[in-house]
Amino acid sequence: MNIRTAEFVISNTKQDRLPAANMPEYAFIGRSNVGKSSLINMLCNKKGLAKTSQNPGKTQVINHFIINEKWYLVDLPGYGFAKTARTNRAAWEKMIKTYLESRENLQCVMALIDSRLSPQKNDIEFINWLGSKGIPFSIVFTKADKQSKLKTQANVELFTNHLLQNWEELPPYFITSAEEQTGKDDLLNYIDSINSQYVAQSI
Ligand code: GTP
Ligand code: MG
Repeated sequence: MNIRTAEFVISNTKQDRLPAANMPEYAFIGRSNVGKSSLINMLCNKKGLAKTSQNPGKTQVINHFIINEKWYLVDLPGYGFAKTARTNRAAWEKMIKTYLESRENLQCVMALIDSRLSPQKNDIEFINWLGSKGIPFSIVFTKADKQSKLKTQANVELFTNHLLQNWEELPPYFITSAEEQTGKDDLLNYIDSINSQYVAQSI
């Protein structure tokens, strides 16, 4: 799939200003600093579309981008930022979980996992929560350029084996690098295949 246009639409802290749920939507989620915003910019070929930062906690709100005037990408705030106060964490949970559970045009959650790390408790817990709610998701391993292919592969295997302790089947997963554009075509083709099956719900 070619991305011809990618435009910012709106930011939300509550669910009251979300765009009409009349197009397929894909949300990017994961720990703070895992590379959600960078991946969105890489996919869209547009640096600066989603705001990125070396410091965790950059994205604080629900950001909608419209792609080719036909579907939405959503950049979400991350979890697991150590400096975040407990009250903020509760607010994050409420905002994100309400959105994920109630957004009827959400086709797939892209759960981003840092490919440099062994399985992390909060990532596993979050993915298990998605599974328990029946929310469709895929796993996107990020920052693959930061280490050898062998190391990436080893961490991917550790993570997927961990998931198989709880789930019978693995979700689709992708290995990416925003830096080197790895995984771009695979992810876009995957989204395209879901888009082509999308039938707008009557709302
Ligand atoms: P929050 O909005 O804070 O939750 O973070 P985020 O998940 O959106 O991460 P962001 O895209 O802002 O990236 C965090 C840092 O990681 C930035 O310094 C990026 O340049 C860097 N980064 C992201 N993706 C990659 C990648 O694939 N390779 C490398 N080498 N660096 C990356
Ligand atoms: Mg971000």
